[in-house]
Amino acid sequence: MSNCLIIAGLQWGDEGKGKVTDLLAGRADIVARYQGGANAGHTVVVNGRQVILHQVPSGILSPKATCVIGPDVVLDPETLLAEIESLLASGVMTDTSRLVISRAAHVVLPYHKALDGLREKAAGKNRIGTTGRGIGPTYEDMVARRGVRFADFCDPERLARRLDMALPERNAIISHLGGDPFSRDDLVDRSRDLGNVLCRHIGDSGAVLAKALDAGQNVLFESAQGTLLDVLHGTYPFVTSSTTTAAAAFPLSGIGSPQSHTTLGVVKAYTTRVGSGPFPTEDEGEFGTRLQDQGAEFGATTGRPRRCGALDFPTLRYAVRVNGVDRIALTKLDVLSGLDSVRICVAYRLGDETLDVIHPDHFFDPGLTPVYEEMPGWKDALTGIQEHSRLPEKARLYVDRIERELGVPIPIISTGFERDHTIVLEDLWN
Ligand code: IMP
Repeated sequence: MSNCLIIAGLQWGDEGKGKVTDLLAGRADIVARYQGGANAGHTVVVNGRQVILHQVPSGILSPKATCVIGPDVVLDPETLLAEIESLLASGVMTDTSRLVISRAAHVVLPYHKALDGLREKAAGKNRIGTTGRGIGPTYEDMVARRGVRFADFCDPERLARRLDMALPERNAIISHLGGDPFSRDDLVDRSRDLGNVLCRHIGDSGAVLAKALDAGQNVLFESAQGTLLDVLHGTYPFVTSSTTTAAAAFPLSGIGSPQSHTTLGVVKAYTTRVGSGPFPTEDEGEFGTRLQDQGAEFGATTGRPRRCGALDFPTLRYAVRVNGVDRIALTKLDVLSGLDSVRICVAYRLGDETLDVIHPDHFFDPGLTPVYEEMPGWKDALTGIQEHSRLPEKARLYVDRIERELGVPIPIISTGFERDHTIVLEDLWN
């Protein structure tokens, strides 16, 4: 369809973007992460081996793709180094020369993580339920113009000057919240050790992407989190601190919009959410518990159990609009096997109104009620199915219904964790 693909999550994250990115990365020349940070946990399983990527783009598992970490990614040098070392040690990655890190990416420093934790503790029952990775405080410093960028981090003198500007105020807040202040000199010393490995990868990531697109190469943009966690378009304030939607891929990466591109929205066959915040189709009964068990719904970054519930068409229609979705990859269809019926949310009632599309701000309205329908379930296991014709009729009807309700074709259906446990009905490249 195009040589430029964007992969974005249409729910609250954990839709299976890592698997879908890995599947499509085999023919990508570049895979670029364009926002978020180590709060992401993209799980990829190849030949029975599970790899969880937090910051390195999921394209690293493809033998040739250049992996780009763009300027709106907040980069945690400690965890990035650990991730690179573990990928090298396990033989998943054989060399790191394919990794380019934007010189403008903001760096997550230990005081950001401390602030994240202390603030959550102070918020008590009003906490966001963050991943504790320092994401919010780092984006906050970026817009407050007191952040440390990767180029600063790689130059100890620049770093010391930036810290002199930022640290006194941050330390004052940390002390106020009961934490221990950080020393500028310790932070600079630590940056030298980490920088030895990481700073080899510094580059102008926008220039790398623009050159590849001009040359007609295949470029894949991989988003993290999901539409409902977007700082503008999500369930604010229970969101992450970045723009997670597809349309942001180009401006956040420092390039203009290519002439054509395909936006692939990733949708889990049911809904999950980690952390606090509204989730109107959450099911705390048997249906939700079963989804959690069958789907192994535990956070890839924090290990927290994911809240589970029914697929939500009005919210997905909103996400399709916000992202400009052309195609959908449906994941975890296999998890629904064995149910007598599968609950779906087809609309919401709010006062006298029936809403087919909903803005997530309405989730805070006390009178909001989901309108459910039960679709017939199927007994047969789907794990590993690669041909559409092998899907049981009821499973096919479920997929058809999603396609019809959202008005978007579903050319990719995932039937298991492994890369090849997938039904692919259309070549999305070119
Ligand atoms: P933060 O991004 O760590 O600040 O967390 C803010 C909210 O986003 C919390 O509810 C997290 O659980 C959620 N969140 C952040 N990253 C992810 C993700 O990759 N998957 C699912 N939820 C996430």
